[in-house]
Amino acid sequence: MSDQKVNSERRTLIMATSVVGGAGVVAAAVPFVASLSPSERAKAAGAPVVADVSQLKPGEKMVVKWQGKPVWVLRRTPEMIASLAKVEEAGKVSDPDSEKSVQPEYAKNKARSIKDEYLVIVGICTHLGCSPSDKLKTGAEEGMAADWQGGFLCPCHGSQFDLAGRVFKAMPAPTNLDVPPYKFLSDTSILIGDDSKEA
Ligand code: FES
Repeated sequence: MSDQKVNSERRTLIMATSVVGGAGVVAAAVPFVASLSPSERAKAAGAPVVADVSQLKPGEKMVVKWQGKPVWVLRRTPEMIASLAKVEEAGKVSDPDSEKSVQPEYAKNKARSIKDEYLVIVGICTHLGCSPSDKLKTGAEEGMAADWQGGFLCPCHGSQFDLAGRVFKAMPAPTNLDVPPYKFLSDTSILIGDDSKEA
């Protein structure tokens, strides 16, 4: 047998072993998933999640995953909150009162939130679903226009949003970023995905 043939057979054996090993991992995972009933699986995927904001400093943002989506919690500074009126006065946002956008009744206000200090929003662009990037600082520091008041920029087609997730005029995104259902369990704990009255 030539050296070349031996090497070729050895390679085939190694590949076959790897595939069997991989199949073993998959086989081990399947019984666990299969052990959940369809309703349990649906419940687990859609279950509310708690965002602990006790360590979140003013000006910082955290991301939690809810229903497979990134939900942002931004702790806005007083300056960030004040920027919302500036953006609106300059006539930059296309739906300032979020009439055409998705949010619960309690978020139908200028800050689009229960408490002005905390923005809770789905971090998915309403154009084609990319995740916008943070451009939280004002002015040219973030590579934005000199009069930029802070917000978010979608890297895919350039939609810009203010610090309440309101889309600017003449952007590809048709509506503001969605606000999910949520409620405060305490001053430092937010339940995302459930806004029922029960405690
Ligand atoms: S996906 Fe955001 S601008 Fe197109």
